[in-house]
Amino acid sequence: MCGIVGYTGTQNAAPVLLEGLKKLEYRGYDSAGIAVLNDGRISISKVTGRIAGLAEKTEDGRLLPGVTGIGHTRWATHGAPTEPNAHPHTSNDGRFAVVHNGIIENYMELREELTRKGYHFESETDTEVVVHLVEMYYQDNLKQAVMRTAARLRGSYALGIICADEPEKIFAVREASPLILGVGIGENYFASDVTALVAHTRNAIYLEDGEFAELTPDSITVFDCTGHIIQKRVSRITWDIQAAEKGGYDHFMLKEIMEQPRAVKATMAPRIKGSEIVLDGVDIDLKQINKIMITACGSAYYAGCAAKYAIEKLCRVPVITELASELRYSDPLIDEHTLLIVLSQSGETADTIAAMRECQRRGAKTLAIVNVVGSTIAKIADWCLYTWAGPEIAVATTKGYTTQLTVLYLFALYAAKKVETVDDSTWRKLLSALKALPKQIQQALDMNPGISQLAKKYHSTCSMFFIGRNTDYAVALEGALKMKEISYIHAESYAAGELKHGTIALICEGQPVIALCCNDSVSEKTMSNIVEVKARGAEVLAVAFRDNARIVSLADDMLYIPKIDPLFSAAVEIVPLQILAYHVAKENGCDIDKPKNLAKSVTVE
Ligand code: F6R
Repeated sequence: MCGIVGYTGTQNAAPVLLEGLKKLEYRGYDSAGIAVLNDGRISISKVTGRIAGLAEKTEDGRLLPGVTGIGHTRWATHGAPTEPNAHPHTSNDGRFAVVHNGIIENYMELREELTRKGYHFESETDTEVVVHLVEMYYQDNLKQAVMRTAARLRGSYALGIICADEPEKIFAVREASPLILGVGIGENYFASDVTALVAHTRNAIYLEDGEFAELTPDSITVFDCTGHIIQKRVSRITWDIQAAEKGGYDHFMLKEIMEQPRAVKATMAPRIKGSEIVLDGVDIDLKQINKIMITACGSAYYAGCAAKYAIEKLCRVPVITELASELRYSDPLIDEHTLLIVLSQSGETADTIAAMRECQRRGAKTLAIVNVVGSTIAKIADWCLYTWAGPEIAVATTKGYTTQLTVLYLFALYAAKKVETVDDSTWRKLLSALKALPKQIQQALDMNPGISQLAKKYHSTCSMFFIGRNTDYAVALEGALKMKEISYIHAESYAAGELKHGTIALICEGQPVIALCCNDSVSEKTMSNIVEVKARGAEVLAVAFRDNARIVSLADDMLYIPKIDPLFSAAVEIVPLQILAYHVAKENGCDIDKPKNLAKSVTVE
């Protein structure tokens, strides 16, 4: 998720900012820019593409002299990766510049207000409202303007702000987005993470949510949101660079697993306005749709399989899930009354693009759910809803999958309201259940230490079964895929009721079976299947709710997830399985972030 840096001191700022941005490259980005303050004016340079391009454009920073500046790597969320959308953004009078990490949820309202007041916008970003607010509130006191601006913002933000009238000062503001201050001697810094700081200093101040700081070359003053000074402790950075890139985790995959509460919240919160779901730009005439088809590959396809239940149940419209690699060569029954939902983290998967084009040729309307802004699938769809998971670096998707589910759940509720298939009180109950997902995912993550112990028991097996029914079966599909791709252990997902039609022949003494039992409507039936495999010697690890007293006597090991409506349970239920796959792979010494034979983006057939 893009990065920001800031510097004030005695050296030329631009080379320091470029070097800092280079250290943040691993976070993923598609454009970059810096702003440097010199002689009462701010100079800006931006590029699409690599930091190397920015270094070339600025002759390694020499073209932007000045000792105070801010920099940014952008990973597009609101608006395509273009130069006007790249940060820093400047005020209309050119006296202020801002860089931002995160998402301003109420930017639409603020943009309308500022436009009415005569401010003009140069970009499509959510960030640009910030710089115009600062200009609007500025009355010879940047601190006051920053405070008043922050009070107007909803969402997550780490901000860096400079003002031509207050040289040598940089402001850093934090709310729900990481931001660290680097304490130097005669120079000070800020950055999104410590990787950009350690070359200069190992003394750091960690800002908390709601705090902001004024940095000059000789001082750092931290304030609470009301402007009162607070005393902060200076901590020592002990991480090496490699560990710092991964946020202290051993692997990007674990970091991304742990990011899920935040990613799901970032995807969901801006789309829930009071008791309404607002899907910006989506104006599908749902009453004209008589069939929904979901297509994707791999985990994205499994997200579709899990969400099918929610959409069908809530909207009473048939939902067909089809693998994109199959759909593209089938002769699908599709017409202009079909809504094709296309899921893709990368937005560049070749099979998914081909299936989508084929369905468009036959008249289907297309709604894409994509993580990478400006990607091919996002561009060719009739409508696009972005998941705001931030860049996913590990090859095996985790936060990509849960944020896809989140958008599909939002869509199910949104559509049910439009086609009037759910009564008001049920709808409101379901919306509350959806809003609880980030917290429940966090509770599931808290099982990490226990699951790492279980991995020691299960890692040496050469095969595993994942069983479940209905929504639990959909989760079994993704759970088994996670296990296969990173641990190289053969894992088979099976609809629990199908075992007796053949597969049960494979169950023998000690065979690990992961049984998913979180859907109350079928859990009795799944428990019967657990009894059947136990009778043949299986070792059963069950995932269930704590109030399921009976399963404890059947299973050998238990993983409890928080109670949740089965319609949305996949987003929580998958979490212990991601963690299990991770620890099993780690026990087996696998290359977790880059499993053999796999690529992050599959752009060939
Ligand atoms: C599995 C995984 C893949 C992708 C699949 C589709 O962990 O990451 O199965 O889900 O290759 O990729 P996208 O979502 O980019 O279309």
